[in-house]
Amino acid sequence: MKVIILAGGGGSRLFPLSRTRFPKQFLKLNGEHSLLAQTILRFLPLVRPCDMVIVTNQEYIHHVRTELIAAKANEAHILLEPAARNTAPAVAFAARYCLDVLGCDANEILYVTPSDHIIRPLKIFNENLLQAIGLAKMGKIVTLGVQPGHPETGYGYIQAGEAFNSGFYVQSFREKPDQETAESYLAAGNYYWNSGMFAFTIECFMSELKKYQLEIYAQAEAGWEQMRENFAEIPSISLDYAIAEKSEELVMLPITAEWNDIGSWDAIYDVLPKDRDANALQGDCIPIECTNTLILAHSRLIGGIGLEDILVVETDDVIVVAKKGESQKVKDLVTQLKERG
Ligand code: GDD
Ligand code: MG
Repeated sequence: MKVIILAGGGGSRLFPLSRTRFPKQFLKLNGEHSLLAQTILRFLPLVRPCDMVIVTNQEYIHHVRTELIAAKANEAHILLEPAARNTAPAVAFAARYCLDVLGCDANEILYVTPSDHIIRPLKIFNENLLQAIGLAKMGKIVTLGVQPGHPETGYGYIQAGEAFNSGFYVQSFREKPDQETAESYLAAGNYYWNSGMFAFTIECFMSELKKYQLEIYAQAEAGWEQMRENFAEIPSISLDYAIAEKSEELVMLPITAEWNDIGSWDAIYDVLPKDRDANALQGDCIPIECTNTLILAHSRLIGGIGLEDILVVETDDVIVVAKKGESQKVKDLVTQLKERG
C-alpha cells in the first residue's frame, strides 16, 4: 500500500493564521505537531515513510520538508505539482508516479488522505484503515464516511445504500450541497459526511478516470514526466466532483474514530483544552471574567474583560475578533481583503 497525502491546498478559512503562502495543513493548531505532521504520524504504524507520497505545490516544498523532519519521516516522497489543479489531477499524478517511479503494479492499493484534519484515537483509526484496505482489495473505490453532526455545507455527503461487507454501497454522493439540501440530508438519517479519504487500487482508479475524466486520464497515460510538463493545462477539479459524484464502484466505510475537519475558529475552540470558565487560551493573555472565549495571542499580550462567546485571533499583522458561531464568515473577510488588492 502507498499512502498519498494531499498537501497542496491553499484554503483561507483559518485566516489570519492560514494564508495562501502558509495554508491550514502546516498550522500547529492542537499541540506540538502541524496537521500535516499529524497526518504522516497517523500512518506510520502501518507503512514505512518510503511508502508515503506527499503531493503538494512546489511553492510549499520547504514547509513540507520541515514537517517531514518533525514527523521523522524524511524518506517519504515529495511529489511537486508545477500548478494547483485541485485533487483529481493531484491523485492521478501520484498514481502515475507510483507506477513509473516507485515501480508499483496496477494492483497496488493507494490510500488517499487530506492533510488538514484531526483524527483520533489512533488505534481505532488503524482498525478503520485496515477495513478500508480490505474493501479496496475487492476492486472498489472506498470512501470513508463520518456520522454527520450538523448540516455543514463545506463537506461532501454520502448516501448509504445496501450493506456491502463492513460498509455500504453508495446510493449517491453530493459534493458541498446548499444549506437546505444539507438540512434535508441530516433529517433523512442515512447520509454521511465525506472525510475526503479514499482507498482503491491504481487499476480501479485509472479505469474510473478513463470513464469520467478522459482529459486527465489521457495526461496520466502519457507518463508522469509528461504529465508534470503539461500539468498547468490539466482541468482543475476535485476528486469529489471528478469521480466520487459519478462512480458506480463507490462504497463507503463509516469511520468509528473521531474526525474533525477543524475548518473554522469555532471548531478550533472545540478541540482545544479549556480553563474552568470554558476559555481556550493560547499565548500571552489575561482574561478577566471571560467565559466560553477563545484567545490565540501570537505576538503581543491580549487582555480580555467580560468577554463571553468571543473568538480572538491575533497575528503579527492582523487581529480578528468574532462572535462565537459566526467564524465561517472569515471567508467573507478574506474575499473583501482580496478585493482591496
Ligand atoms: N496536492 C494537492 N493539490 N493537494 C490539494 C490541492 C491541489 O491542488 N487542492 C487541495 N488539496 C489538498 C488540501 O491541502 C487538503 O489536504 C485536501 O486536498 C482537501 O482539499 P480541501 O481544499 O481542504 O477540500 P475541502 O475541505 O474543501 O473539501 C474536501 O474535504 C472535505 C472534508 O474535510 C472534500 O473532499 C469534501 O467532500 C470533504 O467533505
Ligand atoms: Mg479541507
